[in-house]
Formats: sequence, C-alpha cells, structure tokens
Amino acid sequence: MSKEKTAGLASVVAGKSAICTVGKEGKGLNYRGYSIEDLANNASFEEVAYLLIHEKLPNQTELDDYQNKLISLRTLPQELKSVLECLPKTTHPMDVMRTAVSTLGCLEPEDDFNQQAAIADRLLASLPGILLYWYHFHFQSQKIDVQSTENTLAGHFLYLLKGKTPTALEKQVMDVSLTLYAEHEFNASTFAARVAASTLSDFYSAITSAIGTLRGPLHGGANEAAMELIQRFESADEVEEKLLEMLKNKEKIMGFGHRVYSECDPRNAIIRQWSQKLSLNAKDPHYYEISEAIEKVMWDTKNLFPNLDFYSASSYYFMNIPVPLYTPIFVCSRITGWAAHIFEQRANNALIRPGSEYNGPEPRALIPIKQRD
Ligand code: COA
Repeated sequence: MSKEKTAGLASVVAGKSAICTVGKEGKGLNYRGYSIEDLANNASFEEVAYLLIHEKLPNQTELDDYQNKLISLRTLPQELKSVLECLPKTTHPMDVMRTAVSTLGCLEPEDDFNQQAAIADRLLASLPGILLYWYHFHFQSQKIDVQSTENTLAGHFLYLLKGKTPTALEKQVMDVSLTLYAEHEFNASTFAARVAASTLSDFYSAITSAIGTLRGPLHGGANEAAMELIQRFESADEVEEKLLEMLKNKEKIMGFGHRVYSECDPRNAIIRQWSQKLSLNAKDPHYYEISEAIEKVMWDTKNLFPNLDFYSASSYYFMNIPVPLYTPIFVCSRITGWAAHIFEQRANNALIRPGSEYNGPEPRALIPIKQRD
C-alpha cells in the first residue's frame, strides 16, 4: 500500500456498517435507509434518535413514550453537579462534556452490556442539562433547574440556555440541526468510539474517546472555528481580498471541504436555508451575506464547498448561542450515532488493531549507558 493512499486512512474501508451511508452513489446520506432530506424535513430529532438507538422509526405511541422517558432522565445527580461546580470557569466546554460523561460513568456504571441502550438514552436526555448547568453556574452565578416544560431536546436545550420559551422557528432550526449532526458513518469520533468499544471497554469510555476526538477543529470544532472566521469580516465587500490572502498563506478555511464528499455536503443545503431564514430577524444579518461571499470565493478559487459546520455556525449565532457551546451541541446530537455504532461493534466484535508500515531504524545493538556519547 502506498503512503499517499493510506494517509489518514483515506479511502480505506475499515468495516461493515448498516447504520448510515455517506456519499454513496444512488444512496447519498441516509440513516438506516432514510434520506437525510426526508428525516430533516419530515421527522423530529427524537424520531431520529429512536431510529439510531432503537433501530426503527417509532410510531406515535412509541414516540410519546420515548419523549416522556427522556424527560424523566434529565435529572443530574448531586455528585455530578458538584463536579461541574468544581471545574474551572475557563474549562473548554468540550472538556466539561468529556469529564461529565466520565463522572456519570463512575456514578451510574455500565455493569452489563444489556444496559447500553438505557445508558445511551440517559446521556441523550442529560447532556444539555450537564452543559448548561456548568455554563450558568460559572457565567451567570446560577444553579439552574435542569428540568424544563419543553418536550423536545431542541426546545429543552434552548430553554435551559435562555431561561425562556424559544420561538417556534428557533426550536425548528435546532431540531433540524440535531438531526443533521446525529450520524455520519466512520467519521473520526465514531471510529474512536468503535475502537474503544472493540476492546470490550464500557459505554462511557467509548463516548469519552469520541468526545475527545470530536473536539479538534478538523472535526467537530470546525463549527466554532467557522464562526470565528466569519466574524473576522465586517462586510461581504472585504471577503474576497482577505480570503485570497489567507488562502495564499495556506490557511485552512474552517467549515469547508470534506474527506468523503467531493462536490457538496448534502447537509449544507438544508442548514443554509435555515441560516438565511434566521438572518432575516437577526441583529447581525450581515453575517449571512458574509458567509455567502466566503462560499463563493472558496468555490471559485478552490472548488471547495461548505460542510455542515459552516452554516450551522451562523444559524447558532443568529439564535444567540455562545460560540463555545457550538461543538457541545454536536455532542448532544451525535451521542445517538455513537451509540448505534458502539452497539453494532459489540454485536459482531473484533478487536480493532491495524498494522503499520515500519519506517524506523534497522535493528541495532544497545550500547550500555556508560559507553554512550
Ligand atoms: N481550506 C483551505 N484548503 C483546504 C481546505 C480548507 N478548508 N480543505 C482542504 N483544503 C486543501 C488542502 O490544503 C489541500 O491542498 P494541497 O493539496 O494543495 O495541500 C487539499 O485541499 C486536500 O486537503 P486535505 O486536508 O489533505 O484533505 P482531507 O481529506 O484530509 O481534509 C478536511 C478533509 C475536512 C480535514 C479538510 O477539508 C479541512 O481541514 N477542512 C477544514 C476543517 C473542517 O471544516 N472540518 C469539518 C469537516 S466536516
């Protein structure tokens, strides 16, 4: 195998999966056979979560029961709240998520793999409360109640963040965004989760591995980095000159490009229209025009297209969500996809342990320490 072909495992098929197709001809992006467009337009995030964790779309009764179950699982143990209070205010919110999942793994351990779906539901239900309990404690000096009257995870997240009922549009955009982020085949964080699961480690360890992997700007961290990029411009007029300069300096433009897609990310068309809709009532609508200008320059000069992270960034911004919370929102959603992959890995497990092409020194004699220069 040549080095170029295997760098970053690009194009390497690392296993079989029945959960999702990404960029496959005739299939596009789908979760368990349902197209992303259909799911984003016609199903709620809870239906998608049920599909991924419980392997089928729920009927109305199952969905109602599932929503009620998730509502009942939002509570946080006092010990976990104490840990969140002890973490420094300066902690990166992704480190908060990783630490909280790890802590919950100590408080409510997985004694038996039969508990895996129950733990996935527990994390799905409690992650928004975890993040926003920490956030309000440190930034608003408030110990918030992590319950809300909102039935959906999207509404619940926004209610806990803002302390008031979100608008219907905000709830809808957040719901769609969670669906778009839920699953994406063997991406880096999912693969990390599968590697951890393949050692027969516990569910929480696999999820903390995934969160740590998602944190980087080449993966989930790109949505925050994309917003920081957009905010560098004051108007669409200055985009071309500055962006060309950045490209000349070989800077990576965050929120663009993809390892698997070569022409477009199908999730982009969906989130982009919601970003535009939100911009109409936003106090900084010019960030949408700036985003469009960046998109045009990137396509015209590099044939690079926005991935999901790019317009997710402005969508969240228009909903007044603080930028450091963007990647943790990804976690609140992707927990569903990670869970599905951990289950699948466990159901037909083989330890993931690839080989490497050695390019180090030839065998040599060890010189005793006293004789070394
Ligand atoms: N900005 C500028 N140039 C980019 C780019 C970007 N966002 N994405 C790719 N390129 C360029 C690279 O510089 C490289 O050019 P070169 O051949 O002249 O050196 C070429 O395109 C291939 O990029 P590479 O990073 O090797 O491809 P990859 O398949 O490993 O990259 C990503 C995939 C996602 C890591 C990459 O596109 C990227 O870093 N994007 C920005 C981060 C991001 O948005 N991540 C979220 C992904 S969903």
